[in-house]
Amino acid sequence: QGSDPFSRAPPATLAEIAEGIVACRACPIGCNGTRAVAGEGPDDARLMIVGEQPGDSEEREGRPFVGPAGAVLDHHLNDVGIDRSRARVTNAVKHFKFEPRGKRRLHQSPTAGEIDHCRWWLDAERRLVRPNLVLALGASAGRALLGRTPSIAKERGTLTTLPDGSHLLLTAHPSYLLRLDGEARAKEEQRFRDDLAQLAPLVA
Ligand code: URA
Repeated sequence: QGSDPFSRAPPATLAEIAEGIVACRACPIGCNGTRAVAGEGPDDARLMIVGEQPGDSEEREGRPFVGPAGAVLDHHLNDVGIDRSRARVTNAVKHFKFEPRGKRRLHQSPTAGEIDHCRWWLDAERRLVRPNLVLALGASAGRALLGRTPSIAKERGTLTTLPDGSHLLLTAHPSYLLRLDGEARAKEEQRFRDDLAQLAPLVA
């Protein structure tokens, strides 16, 4: 076709985003036949939580962060006193990118180009919800918000200001915690909790 799928007017409502991502074929992930997963939560949430992309469970249920990574996120949000139901929970990329392995679907990271394409939808969602605080989980979410891939190790845990005046906090992706064991896991869980704890008084 050659036409730019994003040259039209951006969606004016969150419902339009939810419909638009279903039909989006701007990148190979959108073309892979999986279910698109829209953000969920209040349309005027003060806090927006941005993940990377839906995983296997999220694609099946059609909701963000309902699988194992979501359980880790929920546990730590609870621990620091952040009510998930008051946050807008969404992803940088709206479709699940995976590699089939027998009956399983193994997560594959989106490329920088795929994140950059899908950013059009996230930008539209942010303009409509206008969160004051944005929590980016992992480097893909960081890229979708900053336009460059950040180093989570160097940049996590410090609030910065985005061009629209909202505040961004970068931290690790909860799936990263799930890949660790023992002391390393305990240490990273504590760091994750400390990062989230910074947001708690700001969203109360
Ligand atoms: N990981 C993500 O980044 N997002 C989800 O919705 C689920 C797992």
